[in-house]
Amino acid sequence: MHAVGLGDFTVRRANESDADTMAGIDAIASTGDAERRANIARWCRQGSATVAEDASGRLLGYCVVEYTFFEQGFVAMLMVTPSARGRGVGHGLLNAAAASCTTPKLFTSTNVSNQPMQRLLGRAGWTPVGLVQPRRGGPRAVLPLRATGRADTSVTGDVVGLGRVGSGQT
Ligand SMILES: CC(C)(COP(=O)(O)OP(=O)(O)OC[C@H]1O[C@@H](n2cnc3c(N)ncnc32)[C@H](O)[C@@H]1OP(=O)(O)O)[C@@H](O)C(=O)NCCC(=O)NCCS
Repeated sequence: MHAVGLGDFTVRRANESDADTMAGIDAIASTGDAERRANIARWCRQGSATVAEDASGRLLGYCVVEYTFFEQGFVAMLMVTPSARGRGVGHGLLNAAAASCTTPKLFTSTNVSNQPMQRLLGRAGWTPVGLVQPRRGGPRAVLPLRATGRADTSVTGDVVGLGRVGSGQT
């Protein structure tokens, strides 16, 4: 992936040297959560993370696409540092994820209570296709879905019901 300019920020593939900075802006990893830190390091190693940065190279946010969900793309994480929210960074990262996705479908999940993310997904053209109930308590998560246009695949009628999808933390 080449760096793509999106107004006042740029999106590029994350590399291993980005892991510490990504952990620093991550709401969970920055509290010292070892599992999230390890996930971030793995995402960087595997090349599944993209980062948004401003002209001075300051990291504004990151997004992760994995292919572990029915072998289709899955946005496993989208995180924008609080001071950079509300200026299109999340939207830009999501669009970059859809553009780089190599499968016909791209899924994500987020808590129903996560209103900023729900609004963002709606604006970005994602369509809810189902609800999941995490095994251990917590609010239900909605699973929006977006066709990436990479094949002649209808998205109509997909209903996903699994015990657990994603980290369930965001
Ligand atoms: C959800 C999240 C990723 C959104 O990121 P973001 O960068 O703030 O998203 P955007 O800037 O694209 O959109 C946010 C708002 O800014 C507005 N906005 C975007 N660009 C704008 C601009 N140039 N000028 C004014 N407003 C703008 C959008 O309309 C939107 O408004 P709304 O909240 O009233 O709907 C961010 O809040 C976050 O990191 N949350 C914590 C982690 C999380 O919950 N991740 C999702 C689950 S994995």
